[in-house]
Amino acid sequence: MASGLTLSVNGAKQSVSVAPETPLLFVLRNELKLTGPRLGCGIAQCGSCAVLLDGEEIRSCVTPVSFAVGKEVTTIEGLPAVWAAQKHLSSSDSANTLHPVQQAWIDEQVPQCGYCQSGMMIAAVELLAKNPNPTVAQIKDAFTNKPPSPHLCRCGTYAAIIDAVQRAAKAMHR
Ligand code: FES
Ligand code: FES
Repeated sequence: MASGLTLSVNGAKQSVSVAPETPLLFVLRNELKLTGPRLGCGIAQCGSCAVLLDGEEIRSCVTPVSFAVGKEVTTIEGLPAVWAAQKHLSSSDSANTLHPVQQAWIDEQVPQCGYCQSGMMIAAVELLAKNPNPTVAQIKDAFTNKPPSPHLCRCGTYAAIIDAVQRAAKAMHR
């Protein structure tokens, strides 16, 4: 049965009327029109639906929306504002500034079909928040040994992702 829930998504309060067990992914995409997170496997085995919940990556396809109440949800769409807040940018500067992870993904031309990539960038943001200067081995570990499953890319962009994470790490130190 639908009930009224208030979420905090990308820094804004959002009221939705949905069943509490509805996957967060469906609420983000269908109710809030945030289509960055993607439905891939739907069973927490690919990472395409990843978002941050209080800074920790979760798989939104298997997370009930009620679990996100009282926490901050960050999707790929919210990453520029996260970076702007970290760097204390003015609102005019922040409007034109991507998160360094997003910029690195462009500079390294990571995406092929693109389907998995918002989840990959979410994983990269989480990694760099915890480890600002990861080695190649640590990057591989973060993407492949992350519970509940590795982040999967059918297009095989893994090498470019490593380059992009290293580029983003450098940019974030400047
Ligand atoms: S769609 Fe959520 S992990 Fe695959
Ligand atoms: S870029 Fe196509 S699945 Fe990853």
